[in-house]
Amino acid sequence: MTGETMKVLVTGGAGFIGSAVVRHLVGGLGVAVVNLDKLTYAGNLDSLEPVAEKPLYRFERVDVCDGRELRRVFDEHRPDMVMHLAAESHVDRSIDGPGAFIRTNVTGTYMLFEACLDYWRRLEGEAWERFRILHVSTDEVYGSLGPVGRFDEDNPYRPNSPYAASKAAADHLVRAWHNTYGLPVIVSNCSNNYGPYQFPEKLIPLMIISGLEGKPLPVYGSGDNIRDWLYVEDHAEALWRVLNQGRIGETYLIGGRAERTNIEVVKTISALLDELLPDSPHVPHDSLISFVEDRPGHDKRYAVDDGKVRKELGWRPHEDFEANLRKTVGWYLENRAWWERVRSGGYRGERLGLGGGGLQKSADDPSCSGLQIDGDSCGNVMSRPHSGIHMRGSKLR
Ligand SMILES: NC(=O)c1ccc[n+]([C@@H]2O[C@H](COP(=O)([O-])OP(=O)(O)OC[C@H]3O[C@@H](n4cnc5c(N)ncnc54)[C@H](O)[C@@H]3O)[C@@H](O)[C@H]2O)c1
Repeated sequence: MTGETMKVLVTGGAGFIGSAVVRHLVGGLGVAVVNLDKLTYAGNLDSLEPVAEKPLYRFERVDVCDGRELRRVFDEHRPDMVMHLAAESHVDRSIDGPGAFIRTNVTGTYMLFEACLDYWRRLEGEAWERFRILHVSTDEVYGSLGPVGRFDEDNPYRPNSPYAASKAAADHLVRAWHNTYGLPVIVSNCSNNYGPYQFPEKLIPLMIISGLEGKPLPVYGSGDNIRDWLYVEDHAEALWRVLNQGRIGETYLIGGRAERTNIEVVKTISALLDELLPDSPHVPHDSLISFVEDRPGHDKRYAVDDGKVRKELGWRPHEDFEANLRKTVGWYLENRAWWERVRSGGYRGERLGLGGGGLQKSADDPSCSGLQIDGDSCGNVMSRPHSGIHMRGSKLR
């Protein structure tokens, strides 16, 4: 099937990575996309402005926990494939309010997979053969590494934060829906993403914007936590390859081979701001660095062995971390209107993630709080028994 005729349902397409995927598919490859997104605080249609007017692009404001709406979307749009990115994604928010993470990441994944199963079973011939789902997950499900070694696809699951635990639970559901019902699924687990259009609560945009405004650059603990940084546009390309060329039932780890301590990242951003804004009253920007209380349960180090995706699918990042970080800082300097609008939506750069959690707190709105699952939204509208199992491909590892 050619890119021109293919239609992909992308969940979470108004988020940071999802919008990069949608821009890549619609703008870069000419693939039709249905973007299904609830538009939480993290969803932003401004990030889709480059493709929003194209006939290949459609938007559906739908909650992944809403089974009836999911079924309507499948029946109306009849996608060839699904990329599942919708999630609550910020570790600090999961510490303050884990309920929304359980609801969207666990129940939402379950609801989506039930909808996929129902739809897939009603497909026939080539459409049935072609259908597949890519579940996008994180390397945080594997827990924390010591000073040496890297995660690979066989790593045991050891999630430490409520966010990581909710994603780990979703990954296990995916594995079970493949092994039990034969649902054609592939999983990808990636490292920390960075790049344009990232919500300003995450490390890199927060440091760029705070530095620009002469505010303190808050670094957790002593700044020696290590992350492996993946440029979001490289990631979008990798996800498309995994969806199309990856083996069903397999897991693929995607990383940037760019391990940096947080303090190294912040110092590099400060130096870039000094260079790009030589007349700023805040030069040298690294004088704004301030060390703050560490995040509870802060994983020390993540690093990903992405040998499988490179070897099997021929994927690799285009440029190195420093070149991509320079592009990212430049983007935030040139796109002030984008992040100012995001901030006017409520987030002001305040410290998150010290709070006590609990069922009543929500990452976004009261309807997301706690574990309440009402019949309409999260009831099992796919009530047919799971009979007639069709197996394709190998097992998830
Ligand atoms: N950002 C990273 O560094 C990173 C790293 C590893 C894995 N991931 C994973 O990649 C995926 C995308 O991450 P991101 O950084 O783009 O996240 P994001 O928070 O920027 O975007 C999430 C999107 O999902 C939507 N959403 C949230 N709840 C929803 C619901 N109930 N129904 C429908 N839509 C809903 C939001 O509106 C938003 O558009 C997530 O699954 C995340 O776990 C992200």
